Amino acid sequence: MSELKFPEGFLWGGATAANQIEGAWNEDGKGMTIQDCLPFREVGHDDFTKQFEFTSKDLEEALVAGPEANYPKRRGIDHYHRYKEDIALFAELGMKVYRLSISWSRIYTHPEDAEPNQAGIDFYLDLFKELKKHNIEPLVTISHYDPPLALTQEYQGWYSRECVDLFVKYAKTCFEYFGDYVKYWVTFNEVDAMERHPVTSGGLIEDRFTDIPFDLVIYQAMHHQMIASAKAVKLCHEMLPDAKIGCMMTKLAFYAYTCKPEDNLATQQRMRPIYRYVDIQVFGEYPKYLLNELSKKGYTIQMEADDEAVLKEGKVDFVSFSYYMTSTMAADIEGLEMAPGNTVNGVKNPYIPSSEWGWQIDPIGLRISLVELHDRYRIPLFIVENGLGARDTVTEDGKIHDSYRIDYLKEHVKAMSDAINEDGVELFGYTWWGCIDLISESTREMTKRYGFIYVDADNYGNGTYNRTRKDSFYYYQQVIASNGTDL
Ligand code: BG6
Repeated sequence: MSELKFPEGFLWGGATAANQIEGAWNEDGKGMTIQDCLPFREVGHDDFTKQFEFTSKDLEEALVAGPEANYPKRRGIDHYHRYKEDIALFAELGMKVYRLSISWSRIYTHPEDAEPNQAGIDFYLDLFKELKKHNIEPLVTISHYDPPLALTQEYQGWYSRECVDLFVKYAKTCFEYFGDYVKYWVTFNEVDAMERHPVTSGGLIEDRFTDIPFDLVIYQAMHHQMIASAKAVKLCHEMLPDAKIGCMMTKLAFYAYTCKPEDNLATQQRMRPIYRYVDIQVFGEYPKYLLNELSKKGYTIQMEADDEAVLKEGKVDFVSFSYYMTSTMAADIEGLEMAPGNTVNGVKNPYIPSSEWGWQIDPIGLRISLVELHDRYRIPLFIVENGLGARDTVTEDGKIHDSYRIDYLKEHVKAMSDAINEDGVELFGYTWWGCIDLISESTREMTKRYGFIYVDADNYGNGTYNRTRKDSFYYYQQVIASNGTDL
């Protein structure tokens, strides 16, 4: 390891998403999102794929559910009413940047509305003013896994081309109203994720597509998101010339399970679906391997005449990504032990430890990922998610001694420093995922906590919702204050 060193002005911070923290799902003109319809299920974390099962019947149930039903995203951590207290804690932590997402349904009650919802605009304006007061730079994700429910109910989710214009109208409204406050933007969270969770990425319910292969639905929906993203990027460049707008990917990483060439080939092939949409967003065109994949399947994507030009004009300024873990891949996985992960299964790696949720902890994998991304894209990188989901215990002294989270953070910070100083990676920021405890995306539980700030709430919504600083809070404070040199 080389000497710890980070560039001056490095953006240390934390990240959240509207649907996982805000709550207030039906207040002040907010429309419903697909997230408001996802129930809590007692399935255990080994069987996480059960959480993704969502049918038209589940949706019907959600629409008539009474207040006793458990839809955790409806309550979040009540950030909507406590954002000032939360931002004050972020400021005390020393955060230089806060990554948050805007809820489309708060800005447009119905995506077709001609005018935005003033109460929604005011909420975010107040929030941005509060951040400014504390010298915290916002980084805004325009769409983080919460498509308005109307896209599913009145259209066919992102499979419908109409979503492009509706999204661009929403993005334009964000640039217009918040452009004075926000310099860093990201279009879609984890843009590669549509095939892993089509409901939250695309508002797509599989049983509604009976006469078309569902993987074709996903390719088409992704094409629409690519066009929507490129148009938003172009608009942002025109409307806010000083702003920077990026894409966001799930930086999954796989090692070959053995040094057999077949396993290495399988690993390389496994990585391609992760890169293909970011390739479009960075290079402005479909990569040849994706076009080959489509033609091998005999699929044709419906495109409009100027789509190719739109993609070329909407190239992003930076690549941001989430990184939690690595996994391994083999040509023949039969009989090998699998490890659950960030909505993805891979073969378990015997050389690295796992979190209680089976996510394999691998700081060296972060350095490898940074080098890969730098060498592939050659534009600045930003880690917008990294963190450890763990079960925390409040001890008798009322404190949370989360040394495991501190260890995770320490090792990942070292890996970033090495990537910057030894490998020449251009990395300009790091936002820890879930700087305050929030509702888990994949399992919708509170038990799996990421925060430096503890929130007293359980999986059923019980608790005071009071905020408490964990041991890791003071540790991250020291990391930020020393610009990553005092670990
Ligand atoms: C990322 C998402 O995939 O992982 C976040 O962008 C999510 O929304 C995070 O919360 C951690 O996943 P989980 O399932 O532990 O909440």
